[in-house]
Amino acid sequence: MPDNTRRARDEDFWLTFADRYAVQPGPINLENGYFGRMSRTVVEEYQRNIELINRSNSVQVRQRFEPQDSLDIRAQLAEMLGVRAHSIALTRNASDGLQALIRNYNRLQPGDQVLICDLEYDTVKGAMRWLAGHRGVEVIEIDHQHPATFDSLLASYRDIFVRYPRLKLMALTHVTHRTGLVMPVQAIAALAKEHGVDVILDGAHALGQLEFDLESLGVAFAGYNLHKWIGAPLTLGFIYIAPQRLADIDPDMGEMHFPLNDIRGRTPYSTPNIPALMTLPLVLEEHQAMGGSAAKGARLNYLRDRWVSAVRELPGIEVMTPDDPRLYCGITSMRFTNHADQQVMAERLLSEYNLFTVVRSGAASGPCIRITPGLTTTAAEIDLLIKALTELS
Ligand SMILES: Cc1ncc(COP(=O)(O)O)c(C=O)c1O
Repeated sequence: MPDNTRRARDEDFWLTFADRYAVQPGPINLENGYFGRMSRTVVEEYQRNIELINRSNSVQVRQRFEPQDSLDIRAQLAEMLGVRAHSIALTRNASDGLQALIRNYNRLQPGDQVLICDLEYDTVKGAMRWLAGHRGVEVIEIDHQHPATFDSLLASYRDIFVRYPRLKLMALTHVTHRTGLVMPVQAIAALAKEHGVDVILDGAHALGQLEFDLESLGVAFAGYNLHKWIGAPLTLGFIYIAPQRLADIDPDMGEMHFPLNDIRGRTPYSTPNIPALMTLPLVLEEHQAMGGSAAKGARLNYLRDRWVSAVRELPGIEVMTPDDPRLYCGITSMRFTNHADQQVMAERLLSEYNLFTVVRSGAASGPCIRITPGLTTTAAEIDLLIKALTELS
């Protein structure tokens, strides 16, 4: 058994690991998908940086942060991602970056087509629909077959690429926030390339819990945040543009603080959260020291498998992601099939079992309850979830 798989089920290790995080007493949080907790040491470092920047004000920022530290921080992030520093630009979150990529993609002509599916994030859907009015393109919207398989996902994109030869651009979500489905990005991107379709990848939930090599995914454009599974302070994200494709994204709304060949001009220019950025090196160090995405992902998958394997066959329960290891991660949604209102059931999970979850709607397959363990979630808490789902089903 590989080390990460063995460690994923070692409750003693994870109980000790959980001490690194301060956790408010209250409901058991199974909604860790919104954003991640910072470790205590990261919180302390962040506080130190807030105080430092507050004391030194623009002197520190203009003399050190802007000319040097910000570049070093970007270089460290790029190193972790295995990409060249000039292929990423820091943003405040994934949404800002994805919107900038979509609105500044300059290869669309009136009459071209762009593609989204039901599982995309609403901000991405909205931005792609916005292109219709502003670029004169037609927006093709598809619903994915449910339950999905690796082959059905590829077949549906293959079919769409053949059916819509004027398709030029598509959004793709690595891990959908609605059901937790993991898209076979590399295979879809290869297919898209064969048909001349560019991909803008929404990686918001992928980074830090899925192991992947960004350049090998085969997408030219991607947007990420660092505050979900990497463990950074809120307000950090970045865009990736493959260096040879930089010219296909315009500077953001006439942005002119940077030369045309500098990716930093592809995002809105504004005063960033400097103390948060200054904290990033420690965050990356901790992420890597604990084994990175491979270790985090293995633990989250173990917790997910624990509850899914116990309830998948129960009458009255539908688990929204398949068990193909290529198509799921720690986030997995489910639905009570004998109850029309999933919100009522999420409220019962909270009031009767002290389990905090969230309802996600918008997938063609209908509303569901998203269950997202975190790094401080214990196997005993997952067992309580199993009991709750079994009794409520
Ligand atoms: C799939 C997906 N895309 C994009 C976002 C937006 O990320 P951010 O909050 O960093 O803007 C989220 C946030 O939850 C998400 O789940």
